[in-house]
Amino acid sequence: MAHQWRGVIREYADRLPVTESTKVITLGEGGTPLVHAQKLSELTGSTVYLKVEGMNPTGSFKDRGMTMAMTAAVASGAKAVVCASTGNTSASAAAYATAAGLQCAVLVPEGKISMGKLSQAIAHGATLLQVDGNFDNCLDIARKLGESYPVFLVNSVNPARIQGQKTGAFEVVDALGDAPDIHVLPVGNAGNITAYWKGYKEYSAPFESETAGTLPAVSTRTPQMWGFQAAGAAPFVAGHPITEPDTIATAIRIGNPASWDGAIAARDESGGFIDAVTDDEILAAHRWLSAKEGVFVEPGSAAGVAGLIKKHAAGQVPTGKIIVITVTGHGLKDPQWALRTEDGSEVQPVKVSNDVVTVAAELGLEEK
Ligand code: F0G
Repeated sequence: MAHQWRGVIREYADRLPVTESTKVITLGEGGTPLVHAQKLSELTGSTVYLKVEGMNPTGSFKDRGMTMAMTAAVASGAKAVVCASTGNTSASAAAYATAAGLQCAVLVPEGKISMGKLSQAIAHGATLLQVDGNFDNCLDIARKLGESYPVFLVNSVNPARIQGQKTGAFEVVDALGDAPDIHVLPVGNAGNITAYWKGYKEYSAPFESETAGTLPAVSTRTPQMWGFQAAGAAPFVAGHPITEPDTIATAIRIGNPASWDGAIAARDESGGFIDAVTDDEILAAHRWLSAKEGVFVEPGSAAGVAGLIKKHAAGQVPTGKIIVITVTGHGLKDPQWALRTEDGSEVQPVKVSNDVVTVAAELGLEEK
């Protein structure tokens, strides 16, 4: 019989707050590849995998949470949804609101979101407002709109989002047969590290399903959670919120993470840590992924890889372990960074005349 991946709600229905009669809003999210990172494995002496979340319908991991949030919005009878975003949440909210037949409003920090993400929100018909402020200011306003106006908030302060995003951890365990030793990911608003830790914990113990009774544990252990922030936007490293976060990795340009307690719990309960990487380290990891592994991500998504490379250089990555890194969003979201060389100059494609001999000469080929 023909089979197609049904999206994270249907695939993991017995571990999510849904029932048979729930009207599911899905674009087929999840089921993303776990790619063996050959060069990172050679570098570290551990087996490193990339959970490639850019393969989701709108190009980022946000779709896992958005299917749940939009399903909850429809169940609540909402007519309109709102979110604050550094770009990916707004792209996802706009697409899933379209699938749900709901109005969507998104608040983004002016001038600080990539063209790809901006165009997605516009293409899907969202009302996009550029706020004269940063992401944290946008989230404040979105929360107040959700409280005092007839709009349903789909940011990750909505627990439905975390429920959906925990399926990333389920998929890693399902692919590997057990939890990895270490799970690495970028940290911004801290919803994803909270969600992965929830997923790993739920899979490592018997689970009381709302619809299927007690489900047995799937994994024998949980991983250490290693989170990495951009150095100019690293409130967890500072130990307090940052008022003026700054980084070229606009996706994680966040100073006052909403899921503060969840991230601290993930860090401490798992025996992991949250550290920072510089913009230069992020861009070097971004290049590493595209040039050595064949995986194109946006800069913010490379923060976890930058962190692993940094920790390896410091002699702090164990060998012989299984390490999974979530790379959170697709490189096409923010392609301009690929067109810059290491010294910051623009890459100029070589122009040639319309003639095979010239093209062969330019490629250094000699006739057979
Ligand atoms: N990577 C990407 C590509 C992101 O877009 C985000 C967050 C993160 C990592 C960090 O994840 O917030 O769960 O810690 N983007 C949000 C947005 C804030 O609005 O799209 P987090």
